[in-house]
Formats: sequence, C-alpha cells, structure tokens
Amino acid sequence: MRTPELITDPAAWQARCRVDREAGVRIAVVPTMGYLHDGHLSLLREARRLADHARVSPRQEALALATIFVNPTQFGPNEDLSRYPRDLEGDLAKCAAAGIDRVLAPSDPAQIFAPGHETWVSVERSTQGLCGASRPGHFRGVATIVAKLLNLTLPHVAVFGEKDFQQLAVIRAMVRDLSFGVEIVGMPIVREADGLALSSRNAYLSPEERGRALALSRALFEARDAAARGDRDAERLRTRARERLAAAGVRADYVELVDPDTLAPVARAAPGSVLLVAAFVGTTRLIDNVRLP
Ligand code: PAJ
Repeated sequence: MRTPELITDPAAWQARCRVDREAGVRIAVVPTMGYLHDGHLSLLREARRLADHARVSPRQEALALATIFVNPTQFGPNEDLSRYPRDLEGDLAKCAAAGIDRVLAPSDPAQIFAPGHETWVSVERSTQGLCGASRPGHFRGVATIVAKLLNLTLPHVAVFGEKDFQQLAVIRAMVRDLSFGVEIVGMPIVREADGLALSSRNAYLSPEERGRALALSRALFEARDAAARGDRDAERLRTRARERLAAAGVRADYVELVDPDTLAPVARAAPGSVLLVAAFVGTTRLIDNVRLP
C-alpha cells in the first residue's frame, strides 16, 4: 500500500500525464471533491481495475489517478462551499488503499480558475430539470471543471457514480457532443447498511437528522417495490414517495420519474425508469435515486 504521489500544481500534473499518455501508458481517473467515503472508494478501485485490465499488452504500464478539488464554480451563492468537509491526509490514505498512483489536489482554486477565466461549458438539455432547476449554474460549473480535469489528465477512461445520476448524464452528453474521446464509466450507488446513500454531505447531519435522512432511500425502495408489483403510474409513485418524506419531516425539493437516457419525465414507469429525489434534512440537501425493475 504505497502512498500516492501528491501533485498540487495543475500544470505539473498535465505535463506528467502528457508524457505518460505519449509513452502509451493506460490512464484511468476519478474526479472527486474529497472527504472520501466508501462510495468514492468503489470508483477508485474500479479505476485501478480498468487501468490494469484494459491494457493492450501485459507489459503496458497503467496509471490509476484521482483528483481532489472542491470546485467553487458548482456551488450557488447560498450553498455550502465554505463549510464543505475536507481531509486531504485521510483522502490520501484511502487513495493508497485503493491502489491509486497519483493525486491532483490543487491547494488554491485560483490554480484552476485563474482570474479572468471566461470560458464555460454549458450542456443544455439534460440540465433542464431536477437539480438543474433548483441549482442554477451548478451543472455549468460541473461540466467546466470536468472538461478541464479531462484536458489536464488525458485519461482513456474516467469513472463517475450513479449517485449523481443527472451529473453522469450531463458528463456523458458533454463528452459525446464535444468529442472528448474518453470512455465514461458509471458505478452503482454505495449505501450504508440501513440504505442511506453515502455522501460527503452526510457529515453535516446530527444523529437525529441522520435518522430522518433514511426517508429518502426508504421512499425510493418502497416505490421500487410498488413498481415491481405492477404499480406503474408515475404520479402515484411520486405522490407516495413525497408523503413518505413529509411524514419523516423531510422537505422534498423534487421527486421525479424519468427516462434514464433523456432524463425526460415519464407518465408511466418502464423497466429502467429512474426515480430521483432531492430533499432537505434540516439545512442539508441530499439526493438519491433508484432504477425501477
Ligand atoms: P463528489 O461529490 O466528491 O463525488 C465524486 C464521485 O463520487 C462522483 O462521480 C459521485 O457520483 C461519486 N459518488 C459519490 N457518492 C457515491 C456513492 N454513495 N456511491 C457511488 N458513487 C458515489 O461529484 C462530484 O464530487 C463533483 O461534482 C465532481 C464530478 C468531482 C466535479 O467537481
């Protein structure tokens, strides 16, 4: 278990990655905002596996990389940027355990977004509803930082979690539309034993709120079971999920049933439809989703 090499300067990171890529090294990357948990860990391990196993020859070198950057441009003015949890030392230990070779962790946002930065990536259709509606500008910040991290890293493959289902769709659209030539891999949601989806933001929850937060996954699982029993009416599934949240004292931001590819709302649940929820537990905004059978 070797500690990964830590690089804080994006230009130095890019120079190293370019040399590796030109030497034929197979590169996989996991972009994160840090405060890593087991959800991130599953992505990091997958990156290690994808780097190692997709080599064209056993002698080809492989690199599994991670980036840690709390991207200010994806936070709204009244969101939690200033208190977003951080633990670089702990993160490096987790990266080591997952077999990550090298970590980019810029120490100052100005290293990534220099004064005068004026170029933005805006993905138009898949950002319309859901979190795009309640967090204006969020996905513009996400798409721009991910575009930048892909350009800095030049990976063959980048790994993201289905926990942020809309984010994954937005990134796939960007990579397709702007011909990044990077394979995007999505990984299933990792949950606590009781069902709560792991999130760095769970750190904000008091013990009492942690209990109420269970309403998100419970509401989703109940809807999944109802759909499995043949209840396919979107309005009814959404209403029941909303009631479940309200009963737990959790304020729903949205409950939406969508087509997994277009993210357009659907009136009837089809196999593979995704039910997504965003809700406030106290002041903490959590998201979760489930695929219907
Ligand atoms: P962050 O919230 O740190 O998440 C990094 C990656 O981990 C994302 O792809 C996210 O979907 C995944 N992830 C988080 N919780 C997960 C869970 N419980 N199970 C599986 N995967 C999980 O998402 C971001 O950072 C940022 O928006 C980023 C893409 C890095 C751009 O700044």
